[in-house]
Amino acid sequence: MKKKALITGITGQDGSYLAEHLLGLDYEVHGIVRRVALEQPEHRLSRLKGVLDKLKIHPANLDSYPSIFHVFSREQYDECYHLAAQSFVAESFADGFSTMSTNISGTHYVLAALRELQPKCKFYFAGSSEMFGKVRETPQRESTPFHPRSPYGISKCAGFQLAVNYREAYGMFCCNGILFNHESPRRGLEFVTRKITNGVARIKLGLASEVRLGNLDAKRDWGHARDYIEAMHLMLQQPAADDYVVATGQTHSVRDLCELAFSEAGLDYNKYVKIDQSVYRPAEVDLLIGDASKAHSVLKWQPKVDFAGLIKEMVHADLAALASTGKSEPVLARA
Ligand code: GDD
Repeated sequence: MKKKALITGITGQDGSYLAEHLLGLDYEVHGIVRRVALEQPEHRLSRLKGVLDKLKIHPANLDSYPSIFHVFSREQYDECYHLAAQSFVAESFADGFSTMSTNISGTHYVLAALRELQPKCKFYFAGSSEMFGKVRETPQRESTPFHPRSPYGISKCAGFQLAVNYREAYGMFCCNGILFNHESPRRGLEFVTRKITNGVARIKLGLASEVRLGNLDAKRDWGHARDYIEAMHLMLQQPAADDYVVATGQTHSVRDLCELAFSEAGLDYNKYVKIDQSVYRPAEVDLLIGDASKAHSVLKWQPKVDFAGLIKEMVHADLAALASTGKSEPVLARA
């Protein structure tokens, strides 16, 4: 019997890599997608284009409990990966209410529907290193207290605690991944890695003359999304549910990222990066660096791609994509 998995957020960077990974492991893979996405498949389902015909897609809305309940009432699943969220930190400052509603209630609806209809289904919650926020220790590990710095970070703390509570109160198999920043050529253009690698490609090809950025001193632990989704799957294969930090253990500043990405295209970032005060956040997370010892020892998980390899892949993917089409996706004004 094939295992059956449901992915919320299947159209995103992580969802698309996870869908490919699970198909490769001979899973039957289902995904929840907003109905509006089905009306614009070329754009909204573009990350799934290689595997779309192998997936079963369910239109549903995470803002509605009946909608989620309906999905789980139709099929039984072995595993549920809850990745869907408003995941852009800056947007959560602009509209904290929507972020809270989607990220907290959406998670609660999925857990409540699972409890009601299929309590044996294993559940993965996409927690985040943003939960550590104003960090209480370095490096950050599973036992590090949370101190979120944004509505997004607060919403992820709530989702994390909901998963813990369903595990403790109802004995459900609920795992939290505490994933540090993870990127790829499939990253949205609003996130700093892709904004920079796309900017480098645009400048190199004569389509732009600058990239406008905010805080260059923030430090992040950046890994490759394709590596990180493997850890999600491994968590659900363990004998007991638990929470795991997933990180590379290396940290770099946004400035380091600029230097590396521009030099990959033979450019000096000092000439092209302009500081834009409007991109600064009202409260910043200054330093993230994860200690993934538990994932190494229990899950036998190791990242394969390092920071330099990641940025190189992203710059060259953006150069190739822009050279072939001459245009890129629109960038959000706030990004
Ligand atoms: N987006 C963006 N745009 N960030 C900028 C810019 C800019 O122009 N200039 C500087 N930064 C800084 C931000 O202030 C932040 O300190 C850092 O670059 C990274 O920003 P993002 O790439 O937007 O990611 P994030 O760290 O806020 O959040 C990401 O990682 C989390 C895990 O720690 C997201 O993927 C979250 O969803 C995820 O949970």
